[in-house]
Amino acid sequence: MIPGNRYIENIMLADHVGRGVPGDFVECGTWRGGMACGLMAVSEAAGNAPDRRFHFFDSFEGLPPADAEKDGTAAVDYQKDPDAPGHFNNCSADYEGFAALVHAQGVAPERIHIHRGWFQDTVGHYAGGPISVLRLDGDWYESTMTCLEALYPLVSPGGAIIIDDYDDWDGCSLAVHDYLSRHRLPARIHRTVLSRVAFLIKVAE
Ligand SMILES: C[S@@+](CC[C@H](N)C(=O)[O-])C[C@H]1O[C@@H](n2cnc3c(N)ncnc32)[C@H](O)[C@@H]1O
Repeated sequence: MIPGNRYIENIMLADHVGRGVPGDFVECGTWRGGMACGLMAVSEAAGNAPDRRFHFFDSFEGLPPADAEKDGTAAVDYQKDPDAPGHFNNCSADYEGFAALVHAQGVAPERIHIHRGWFQDTVGHYAGGPISVLRLDGDWYESTMTCLEALYPLVSPGGAIIIDDYDDWDGCSLAVHDYLSRHRLPARIHRTVLSRVAFLIKVAE
């Protein structure tokens, strides 16, 4: 689903941060697992975190309904139109297919944790270790905010929070700004060079 340069820059960023900051890799919004596998592969190739765990959160039932007020009419209209580019049946994905894919990457099964369900019911129960890379790819305001509230505090200093939909959906950028303001966090929005992937670096509190 992700264009080439953006995919590569996500991976380069995860590689850079993952080499320097110990902790688990977490993706919220995995869909079929394209980025999930890239995150696993780059961490394994670096070889410096043999105990790193990978946590993947998704409903595997697609996106929840967009909220007209928070996500905007573009999001609501997109969701209503099955022929919209990138709609993919409302981003639904097959759980068994995803599980088989991530378990075929050569990582010990006990290091792979798939959390199936709505973020509102799952991310608050995260029981993994400190987080090195937190990748948010849940499109909407509530999906983004729920993950930030539950998981941002668990990101290690120097860890990255990658915000896939910052430029794509108003609800996502609003959630990031609201979260930072609500918690009076002075974190900056950083950008990669080619595809301008948006990310935050956690500073020590
Ligand atoms: C754009 S897709 C993710 C693409 C994926 N990261 C990739 O690399 O191809 C968005 C995903 O977020 C999931 N999602 C969004 N909001 C969610 C929520 N509140 N709870 C659970 N899953 C959610 C959807 O099920 C969907 O699979």
